[in-house]
Amino acid sequence: MSTTPIDATAHTPHIRGMSEVFTGSFTQQEPIPEDGIEAALAVLRHGRLHRYNVASGELSETALLEQEFAALTGAKYALAVASGGYAMATALRACGVKAGDKVLSNAFTLAPVPGAIASLGAEPVFVGVTENLTIDLDDLQAKTGQARVLLLSHMRGHICDMDRLMAICDAAGIVVIEDCAHTMGASYNGVASGRHGVIGCYSCQTYKHVNSGEGGFLVTDDPLLAARAVMLSGSYMLYERHLAAPSPDVFEQIKYDTPNISGRMDNLRAAILRPQLQQLDAQCAAWNVRYDTLEDGLRGTPGLQVIEREPAAHAVGSSIQFLLLDWAGDSIAEVLRRCAQRGVDLKWFGAQEPTAFTSRYDSWRYAPSTPMPASDRILSGIVDMRVPLTFSLDDCALIARIIRAEVGAVFQNQA
Ligand SMILES: Cc1ncc(COP(=O)(O)O)c(C=O)c1O
Repeated sequence: MSTTPIDATAHTPHIRGMSEVFTGSFTQQEPIPEDGIEAALAVLRHGRLHRYNVASGELSETALLEQEFAALTGAKYALAVASGGYAMATALRACGVKAGDKVLSNAFTLAPVPGAIASLGAEPVFVGVTENLTIDLDDLQAKTGQARVLLLSHMRGHICDMDRLMAICDAAGIVVIEDCAHTMGASYNGVASGRHGVIGCYSCQTYKHVNSGEGGFLVTDDPLLAARAVMLSGSYMLYERHLAAPSPDVFEQIKYDTPNISGRMDNLRAAILRPQLQQLDAQCAAWNVRYDTLEDGLRGTPGLQVIEREPAAHAVGSSIQFLLLDWAGDSIAEVLRRCAQRGVDLKWFGAQEPTAFTSRYDSWRYAPSTPMPASDRILSGIVDMRVPLTFSLDDCALIARIIRAEVGAVFQNQA
């Protein structure tokens, strides 16, 4: 990734003298690995894209992918589906959530999470966010009486104290479904993210940790939940073609009562994903070294708070956040504008109007909510940045220098 020192005064009256500018793309992911491309071509050549369309004796790419994902997460059962959002809605349905039910979930997450709840006609009950950008466990404790299911989002890879969360939920009889869209490859206390709750849901969408354009997984150890999820995803009566699903007798118990709500994975995407799963650990390590470079560069910037991780959490730094806590909105907007002028694309969860993916609990007006002042204070200060693996470590160091300089300049003017 190239970086160009320019005389920014030629373009921007706010930057004087020689300023470094970043010229890379914040949305450019790596190409699909060659063996994924080869495998995809093989599927295209034989034409059996539908997961249940197999030649005699053939195991489909999708069934093999599920088997490999189950092994990777240590789960008994895995199901590959059309998207992470579909995985969450299916998990909720499999757990018996119905129209009118309330489901606890994070106030700080992305729109597909409350959207999955709303897709069943259920209603999110939002739980606050801490300065670590994890779910507020005191608030969760206070709201346990309001729902019997928690859809817990490990938003932006920040994993809360899972021991305390599970203790709260177990004591209250709350079923935990984990949204691991940002934690595929992450773990807590050595246990894969998604394996603390009853079901873990993952996304394979382009900006996540594996890339098939669209796609998702769910994993569980519970045979009835797994069988329901397989039927829900649109297995017809072909569930015996799965390799990471329960035995047929479990399906016998639910097959007449479980609707088909098609959202299957196909063999083309599965073929693209299988080699990526093999590389997941190495990819996560590559993200983390970039994350650490960015964090090291940002730590100690006056007015800027880095996000501390739970000690037991092993996260994946595919994006980075920091807080400009208690800053005036205009000043945060000024930081974003100045960074953008130097090629650094930051997003802000506190803007008046949600843009792109930065909506908040109070933007989801289909789901009634009461104001949460402590969370609003934090949401107002969250600045967010993607870290694609196409960035070099030098890129990350440069980006951190630019943010540090611009936050510092605006902070000084504020003071
Ligand atoms: C936190 C979070 N959860 C769930 C999802 C849903 O994933 P998908 O886009 O595959 O439906 C996303 C996607 O952006 C997400 O960011």
